[in-house]
Amino acid sequence: MVATELVCVLRYTMHSISVTGITSESVAREFATHAKEERAHMMWAADRIDQLGGVPNLSPEGLATRSATEYGDGGNLVEMVRQNLVAERLVIEHYRELIRYFADHDPTTRIMLEKILAEEEDHATDMHDLLVAHEGRPFLAS
Ligand SMILES: [Fe+2]
Ligand SMILES: [Fe+2]
Repeated sequence: MVATELVCVLRYTMHSISVTGITSESVAREFATHAKEERAHMMWAADRIDQLGGVPNLSPEGLATRSATEYGDGGNLVEMVRQNLVAERLVIEHYRELIRYFADHDPTTRIMLEKILAEEEDHATDMHDLLVAHEGRPFLAS
């Protein structure tokens, strides 16, 4: 969870810096906002691990393999938005599963995950809207 959020921070940060195009300024701002929110998710998850007596793993070593999503490979604005949308949809599926797993035996963790999930759903909607704005059609049936 911490690794996944951290990879999202890195991907959105890279995109916010390197995106180009006519609408790139507003899109860069949106990517930067998401990066900030992904960092907050990372902090919530890391704090929860700390509360449970663990040590959150922020090591760059093996980060990509611990993450549920990919860092991506940048590209043009539409490619970036697609990569973020794919990542958000994966994260949403992943957190829905975790919420079912924690169910009633760890309500604190479950409630934290529900809070994150609501924001990830907003992120996915933002990316989908951007894609429709730039491509004129929806993307991915799933
Ligand atoms: Fe997140
Ligand atoms: Fe997100």
